[in-house]
Amino acid sequence: MNISTKIKGTGIYLPKKILTNVDLEEMVETSDEWIFERTGIRQRRICSTEGGEFPSDMAEKASLQALQAAKLEPNDIDMIIFASVTPDYKLPNSATVLQQKLGMTNRCTAFDIAVACSGFVYGVNMAHSFIKTGMAKNVLVVGSEMLSREVDWSDRSICILFGDGCGCAVVGQSDDPQGSEILATHLGSDGSGKDFFDQPIGGAVTPINETHLKENSHFMRMKGGEMFKVATRTLAESARIVLEQAGLTLDDVDWVVPHQANIRIIETTARLLKIPMEKVIVNIQNYGNTSAATVPIAFHEAITDGRIKRGDIVLFDAFGAGLTFGATLLRY
Ligand code: UT7
Repeated sequence: MNISTKIKGTGIYLPKKILTNVDLEEMVETSDEWIFERTGIRQRRICSTEGGEFPSDMAEKASLQALQAAKLEPNDIDMIIFASVTPDYKLPNSATVLQQKLGMTNRCTAFDIAVACSGFVYGVNMAHSFIKTGMAKNVLVVGSEMLSREVDWSDRSICILFGDGCGCAVVGQSDDPQGSEILATHLGSDGSGKDFFDQPIGGAVTPINETHLKENSHFMRMKGGEMFKVATRTLAESARIVLEQAGLTLDDVDWVVPHQANIRIIETTARLLKIPMEKVIVNIQNYGNTSAATVPIAFHEAITDGRIKRGDIVLFDAFGAGLTFGATLLRY
């Protein structure tokens, strides 16, 4: 049987606290001008450490919104894929924590994936495959991150880039007369770039000790220039692969929803693909890089404000630490 899949509903949660570039000027040797010119970021959201805004809390609020948009109840979901590199706990996984918070009693499959900024695109493409093979009917895909916990707030080269937030989508079987469906998917990875963006301290190989805490070496580290170069090339390549799969061209694409890591990466990719920036959804100025949450937050906002409409051809395009990368082409 040829099963089609589509995005049935989306939701987001953004932490209440706003941290502006001007606030950062008080914390490290930087300026609003430098950050905005080099990254496109003006402000980002930061989760409360008091509770209520941890990754699974944000996911609960965003999921209820997505379920409502999809006209589904929590127990209609038969799989949860939770993408995060900043989960609530090492154990249990965040997907089962979310299952419980949503009051689900159907004992459905629930698991986490840790593929950094490509997490949501990985999740959507995996959901598509699970549905097509008959293993699931309605999959809740979540990207939820509290990167503020893993950032060295004394390192200006990295702390200015990241923010917290959550976005999610219900991917389900489609019998849509308007033809809403996921048209093509691509995923990949390249371990040769594993040192470009990593956090080696705190895993099984090197547990955190007092020296790490004193030196702040347990936080995320990034070779920004290397990431920048590889990002633009990879994003353009992934876009071309899904378009070719679907037999479409860039002229057919109404909207590109790229990972929001740096406005210059987004603009360079658009130039490489010869796609006008008017067709590219950008919200990095408000939230910075929220890793697995950037694509679903940008997608949801563009649906909510009326830019993306049912029937539009939409391209998700992401890359991240690993390196991991992927794209989804869909008729929304
Ligand atoms: O989601 C996936 C992961 N993220 C990415 O892929 C991000 C990719 N990389 C980038 O976005 C950019 O490489 C950065 C924004 C991280 C850096 O931008 P850049 O234009 O490559 O700057 P740079 O690292 O070459 O630094 C230029 C200068 C340096 O000074 P000198 O050596 O030229 O005197 C830095 O020390 O800017 C200095 N600098 C800063 N100055 C003010 C670095 N960070 C800051 C800062 N404020 N926050």
